Amino acid sequence: MKRFVIDPWGFFLLKDYKKLIGQYGIEPLTPRMLSKLPEPNRLMRRGIVFAHTDFEKIIDCILEGRDYYALTGIMPTHETIHFGNKSVIENMVYFQEHGARTFVLVADLEAAATRGISLGESRRRALDFHIPAYLALGLDPKKTIFYFQSENQAVKNLAFCFAKRVTISEFKAIYGSVDAGRIMSALLQAGDILFPQLEKAMPGVIPVGVDQSPHLRLCRDVVRRTKRNFGFVLPAGLYHKFTPSLQGEMKMSKSIPGSFIGIPEEPERVRKKLMDALSGGRKSVEEQRRLGGRPERCMIFELYKHHLIESDEELDEIFQECRKGTRLCGECKAYAADLMERFLKDFGRRMERARKLVPKLTFVR
Ligand code: TRP
Repeated sequence: MKRFVIDPWGFFLLKDYKKLIGQYGIEPLTPRMLSKLPEPNRLMRRGIVFAHTDFEKIIDCILEGRDYYALTGIMPTHETIHFGNKSVIENMVYFQEHGARTFVLVADLEAAATRGISLGESRRRALDFHIPAYLALGLDPKKTIFYFQSENQAVKNLAFCFAKRVTISEFKAIYGSVDAGRIMSALLQAGDILFPQLEKAMPGVIPVGVDQSPHLRLCRDVVRRTKRNFGFVLPAGLYHKFTPSLQGEMKMSKSIPGSFIGIPEEPERVRKKLMDALSGGRKSVEEQRRLGGRPERCMIFELYKHHLIESDEELDEIFQECRKGTRLCGECKAYAADLMERFLKDFGRRMERARKLVPKLTFVR
């Protein structure tokens, strides 16, 4: 089997998600597991969360009402986010609503060590945009514990303790290449992932884009090696597919203009970007009516599936109509733009409210 090195700081691209299964402890999320989850959300039902590590124990916690946590980190590399960043947040909301203690951290030290972004700049971006955006997308401010890596002494201490347990060759095997910033960030991320267990050892789930899976592998290795010192429970990972770029590459990215739809983004620009997006349409209307469209390779359909359409019946109807050639790209793109506009308007309103809550939040130190 060909082995991949997934570089979480690089531009990780892959044609076929199945190729990752079996590597890094990445297991498929089976229909049987999904059927046990109460009220699976859109992302779970549609295979957008497609793989996991050790997620069975989280399902058990949910079903048995036992303590567990969900944790994710924000690296404020940009002022705002885009549609590709939204799925992880939605799953954090799912776990919060299903009994998880929830933790969201700002990876300001990682942003400094790997992207050269100052701590002050990260802080400003996080408070102005990223944290209120997480609230606007549904996290409950009263039930979420926030911190900045730079202010969390316990996390930094964990990173130093873990440093003794990992070798450079292991880093190389997991991450491909190493430098000081990456090593420090990876150890810190292991600290983040285990921080909630300092109070009490318990299962935790880390929902992330699959490019972050190497961090889970390192963290789990560290847990095994520090069993006697810390007694942490092995953390679970839940892996998301990326939202494809509007041109059909593997993922939306802020580094490629026109590949993404921002949150927020001006309605006119959204419309223009959607009109320019890759669709599964044919060369002419006549041909499309005759042969039907190809929703399976259409980026508008991907947006419906990942983000815009909640009802599985409606999604299936669109798929069938497109296939039959009764639904044409122009009207379909206009519909997507309407849904997008509605979402963004609503998001704007929620943001206004969420921004007022930020000064009241307390951050772990
Ligand atoms: N490395 C993550 C990113 O690039 C941010 C992050 C830091 C994180 N600590 C974490 C993510 C812990 C999940 C869990 O965005």
